[in-house]
Amino acid sequence: MAKKGMCCGKRTPLILILTFCIFVMYTNIKSINQVEKSTSQMKRQFDEYTYNATRIINLTKAYISSLADGLLQRSTEEHQSAKEHMVQRKSHLSKMCELFRRSTEYENPQLFYRYPQTYIRNITFPTYPFHLLWCPVFKAGYTNWNKTFLDLDAKLDPRSTDITNSSNIDTKHHHVRFLIVRNPWERLLSAFLDRLEYHPQMKSFQRDHFGRLIMAKYHNVNASALPYEKINVTFQEFLQFIVDEPRQTKHHLADHWVQYYEYCKPCDIDYNYIGKVETLSQDANYILYKLGFISARFKDQKAQTTAKMVKYYESIPCYLMDKLSLVFFWDFKLFDYDLKYPACSE
Ligand SMILES: *[C@@H]1O[C@H](CO)[C@@H](O)[C@H](O)[C@H]1NC(C)=O
Ligand SMILES: *[C@@H]1O[C@H](CO)[C@@H](O)[C@H](O)[C@H]1NC(C)=O
Ligand SMILES: *[C@@H]1O[C@H](CO)[C@@H](O)[C@H](O)[C@H]1NC(C)=O
Ligand SMILES: *[C@@H]1O[C@H](CO)[C@@H](O)[C@H](O)[C@H]1NC(C)=O
Ligand SMILES: *[C@@H]1O[C@H](CO)[C@@H](O)[C@H](O)[C@H]1NC(C)=O
Ligand SMILES: *[C@@H]1O[C@H](CO)[C@@H](O)[C@H](O)[C@H]1NC(C)=O
Ligand SMILES: *[C@@H]1O[C@H](CO)[C@@H](O)[C@H](O)[C@H]1NC(C)=O
Repeated sequence: MAKKGMCCGKRTPLILILTFCIFVMYTNIKSINQVEKSTSQMKRQFDEYTYNATRIINLTKAYISSLADGLLQRSTEEHQSAKEHMVQRKSHLSKMCELFRRSTEYENPQLFYRYPQTYIRNITFPTYPFHLLWCPVFKAGYTNWNKTFLDLDAKLDPRSTDITNSSNIDTKHHHVRFLIVRNPWERLLSAFLDRLEYHPQMKSFQRDHFGRLIMAKYHNVNASALPYEKINVTFQEFLQFIVDEPRQTKHHLADHWVQYYEYCKPCDIDYNYIGKVETLSQDANYILYKLGFISARFKDQKAQTTAKMVKYYESIPCYLMDKLSLVFFWDFKLFDYDLKYPACSE
């Protein structure tokens, strides 16, 4: 009986009930908050799912309508011959690389000038999960590729220095790895016409640098004192210069005429597509198609060099052509070009 009077008396149950009620209300409010919070989170997630689903549906629709358009069918036919070329070139390259790896050039790199880095570009697209690996051989459709990529909104990374061989490449994200080559005789002439031949208005680094060295060597002039307008070298002098310079020095090689095997390392890097300037738009459209740009078209521009081949080469002494064919021997072999001279004079 004494305990009963110690506290609160008859109001005790009421207080307990009130406390309980307040506790229950508090926890309910808290969980209502939580429910609201998780509902809005779920709503956001749902919206995202819906968005993603719509995107997939849209993509599927586009794909189906392209099927309906016969676009894929047409593409398959259009690309048949490019596809065959690519398979053939790749298999030829891998056979030749076995020989190349036993060559003096490959086994004794100290005897030759080494390009300090490979100039392979890592290209990414904002709306596309894959990257593209491209060895941009100058005078082999370089400018046209540049334009095509710009149209596709591509981001061209600055020169990649870290790609020295295939083990550094994540092939899952780089499922397209390509280079474009050109008949080495045509490439040499094209480099000369574009970069070294005398044109009153044309300014070029190559004419200023290599043209000057060539003038000093064959015209007995003070190269550093020579005004730019007086730099006037012939095709034969240019070829002679490439042959005469010792192969350990860097003077005779430039981006525009250095060997493909040196510039792109085709026997160390596993390129899966080898295009050629001779079949450029076909090859390029196939590569774009393989990348997933089904209806993208390569911005082609016809090269004007072919028509000038005989005119420029027919005055070149055959002995010089013999020597040159040794300098570029592996470029011819690796990419299956005919070593036969366009012309030469006995
Ligand atoms: C929607 O797609 C993006 C990008 O593909 C992905 O990161 C995200 O997790 C997806 N959202 C949902 C809710 O699946
Ligand atoms: C899907 O396509 C419709 C109609 O073309 C467009 O309005 C919508 O923005 C697209 N949605 C996505 C997520 O791409
Ligand atoms: C190639 O494109 C880049 C922009 O991505 C530009 O800066 C560069 O001058 C272009 N080069 C040539 C040779 O067109
Ligand atoms: C490729 O590079 C890795 C290191 O990045 C090196 O260990 C390997 O020997 C190289 N392979 C060739 C064939 O050069
Ligand atoms: C190419 O660029 C992408 C995106 O910046 C990067 O994740 C990847 O590692 C790069 N690959 C190489 C071989 O440099
Ligand atoms: C070449 O020309 C430069 C600049 O005019 C001059 O400094 C140099 O002494 C000349 N060299 C010779 C060997 O004449
Ligand atoms: C450049 O050299 C060629 C061949 O030596 C010659 O025919 C031509 O007249 C020269 N042009 C000029 C502007 O000096």
